[in-house]
Amino acid sequence: FRVDMDASAADKGTYPFYMLKEVDEQPVVMRKLVQEYLDDEGIPKIDPKLLAQMKAADRLYIVGAGTSYHAGLIGARLFERLTGISTQVFISSEFAYEQPIMAAKPFFIFLTQSGETADSREVLVNVKKQGWPSLTITNVPKSTLSREASFTLLLHAGPEISVASTKAYTAQVAFQAILAKALGMAMNKENAANFDIKQQLGLVAIGMQAIVDSKDELESIASRYLSQPRNAFYIGRGIDWSVALESALKLKEISYVQAEGFASGELKHGTIALIEDKTPVIGIITQDRTANLTRSNLQEVVSRGASVLTIASKHLSQPDDTIVLPDVDPLLSPLLSVVPAQLLAYYTSLGKGLDVDKPRNLAKSVTVQ
Ligand code: G6P
Repeated sequence: FRVDMDASAADKGTYPFYMLKEVDEQPVVMRKLVQEYLDDEGIPKIDPKLLAQMKAADRLYIVGAGTSYHAGLIGARLFERLTGISTQVFISSEFAYEQPIMAAKPFFIFLTQSGETADSREVLVNVKKQGWPSLTITNVPKSTLSREASFTLLLHAGPEISVASTKAYTAQVAFQAILAKALGMAMNKENAANFDIKQQLGLVAIGMQAIVDSKDELESIASRYLSQPRNAFYIGRGIDWSVALESALKLKEISYVQAEGFASGELKHGTIALIEDKTPVIGIITQDRTANLTRSNLQEVVSRGASVLTIASKHLSQPDDTIVLPDVDPLLSPLLSVVPAQLLAYYTSLGKGLDVDKPRNLAKSVTVQ
């Protein structure tokens, strides 16, 4: 058993923790994906045999654990929007024991940074037994799930050492956008043809760079709002809610703040009871259709004493927003909105003197069910 790794890529250099290095690498990872998977005209280079099998499916099933599951939530929206194929996302440890009533022609996509997560492998083993086709999207060549699926595609994000996943998440989201575009084009879908993924990923890389260059501001926001409270909320609607789930997970994992990612419209149906004086509530606002609704949900928590912060896309921003993101295609906004959340979690953990890369009770890859 031998694990090959480019040792220089896994060196933390002058960084105090791998996580910060990995957050900083995200613009490079975006460019690497463009280089690996798009031609000069921005047309995806994806195995036609894989696309033919995906095209034949009447439903896509995305399966993952932890951060990979959260990336799948974004992926489902990308696949539905660009291909018109109904797509469902499952937590692997749930799907393994509660298989839903299946579509006639399912196609499975496994998202796994490590390619070794036991819960996800359990699903793959059952999928194979039932004769269904599968694709593993992973960061680790020759990993178990990459070997066992019908197809494998790599994230090319370079080794991710910190337990809290960052660049693998954004690579998974960006790669699913490329794959959804490829599949949609193979199906002659107009939405896919019109989606200029190459230009957009270029803008994303520039936007990510601008965010990681604002570390000082993010560090001071973290120390001002997140260093003391025991609880915090990230809220949003639709794709912003999916990012809220990942943002809250980052904060929980490494800074031990009890954080929840919540559908902002659902707060009033119970959870708003938890809002106390100075509870941090971070609203994610990147979608035209839901921006005003989320803003009014933020007003509801302000009036109950919450300390409200906002992460908003530029074209939807207001003068007192906390963090304003450059504009990109709204389908790719998670690639930018998650980055300040990663850094807020990082600086909260750092400020508390915790071991950012090796949080208590957690492992980088979980090989037990
Ligand atoms: C562990 C890690 C998480 C990761 C999850 C799934 O719990 O701590 O960061 O998201 O496993 O890992 P995978 O390698 O399958 O993406």
